[in-house]
Amino acid sequence: MTVIPDRWRARSAIDLVREAGDGADLPPCDSRFHYVPPWRSEALETLAEKVVPAVAGIAARYAAAGRPDDLITADETATLVGACAYVRLRGDGDGCTLAFGGLPSELTGHAQHDRMTVRAALECVGWFDANQRLLTATGITPGRPGGTAAADGALYGPELARRYDPARQVTEQFNDVLRGFAKEFLGMRRVLELGTGTGRVARNIAPFAGSYVGIEASRAMIDAGRRDGLDVRQGDMMAMPFETGSVDVVVEHESVDFCTEPLLAATEIERVLALGGQFYRIELETVPAAGITRLQDEITARLAKLSGGVFPYWTKGQRRRLHSRLTGRGFAHRRIRLARWHETRTLRNWLQGLVNASYPSFSGVDEETASSTCVELARAASMGDLDTKWPGEAGVVVHQYEAVEWCCAAHRPRPTT
Ligand SMILES: C[S@@+](CC[C@H](N)C(=O)[O-])C[C@H]1O[C@@H](n2cnc3c(N)ncnc32)[C@H](O)[C@@H]1O
Repeated sequence: MTVIPDRWRARSAIDLVREAGDGADLPPCDSRFHYVPPWRSEALETLAEKVVPAVAGIAARYAAAGRPDDLITADETATLVGACAYVRLRGDGDGCTLAFGGLPSELTGHAQHDRMTVRAALECVGWFDANQRLLTATGITPGRPGGTAAADGALYGPELARRYDPARQVTEQFNDVLRGFAKEFLGMRRVLELGTGTGRVARNIAPFAGSYVGIEASRAMIDAGRRDGLDVRQGDMMAMPFETGSVDVVVEHESVDFCTEPLLAATEIERVLALGGQFYRIELETVPAAGITRLQDEITARLAKLSGGVFPYWTKGQRRRLHSRLTGRGFAHRRIRLARWHETRTLRNWLQGLVNASYPSFSGVDEETASSTCVELARAASMGDLDTKWPGEAGVVVHQYEAVEWCCAAHRPRPTT
């Protein structure tokens, strides 16, 4: 669906990017974000140099002096339509990530006129500015292309997939809580799970759903799991192959943490959910003794250093960004504690994932090095060996985000005439 009128296309930011020499196969211009990694830096500079100041100039011209019903010029109208049709994620250098959105449906009405009113122009400026700010605050790492290929190859390749289930064990208690959650919240609805991994959550929740489909970027993770008749498709949660408004519930457990850009996942969650639908982010809480938490931090820092200084993915602020995006879009948030219990585990178990270096962030560290690092630092902290038992607590919390109203005009049902 092309929503940007042809007469404005030549002035749109994307065409400026094309002129700058990027021959990439560009996505269609519609109301979704498209994810096009990697991108060359000149293209971003073109946007920064040509589009942002032009929009700022229009804002400066009319914000103070214009009367709302005056008309701006045709040139200015073209500039605004072009700018609003495409927003981007910022990065500094080759290989950074870029997202395109088509002209937002709230603004398509304005684009039908050769000359916009000042009121409409300022609305476009506000939209462009808000999205620029939102998207430029994301801190994408230069040189690390994202998307399915990266999630598949660089993050969860065959080696990590092989280690995943044994290295990150869940208790039967966790499985029970998941089944209880599914009975209470998913009953007979159309459920989509993001980042299914090897299907551990899926196997517990799918039997209680009306229908279940999972999306997972890594072919290796899908292959490493048991299938149990589950419908899991290889794909990217930042660009999902599902119809708008086609699911009632979206569920995730520890997968948005590993997705390159949660804002894109949030946009997609918003799109695929039907009105009144919910997104549930399941969080497994583990609260070991204070000494173990300190030890975990020390081991994490050491492994990060050994693996070339790659910062752990789960501390990138993904959950916070997802939360503020969804609540900012009008989703009602509720934190629900499902369960909490005491647990005595071995130190190995409290440290799981670190002992085996089974997180992508540590993929440059072999198992033996990871394990000996844990042993060495545990001894230094007088925590005993890896088989020493330690008490602590575990629990499960879900964050419920409910689509209480149509989040954007594109999702609203059209009036029947
Ligand atoms: C820590 S694992 C969690 C797996 C599963 N949810 C679980 O609880 O066992 C994170 C998963 O998210 C997947 N993932 C990361 N980015 C993704 C993306 N953009 N789209 C789909 N899956 C993604 C990874 O491939 C990986 O299987």
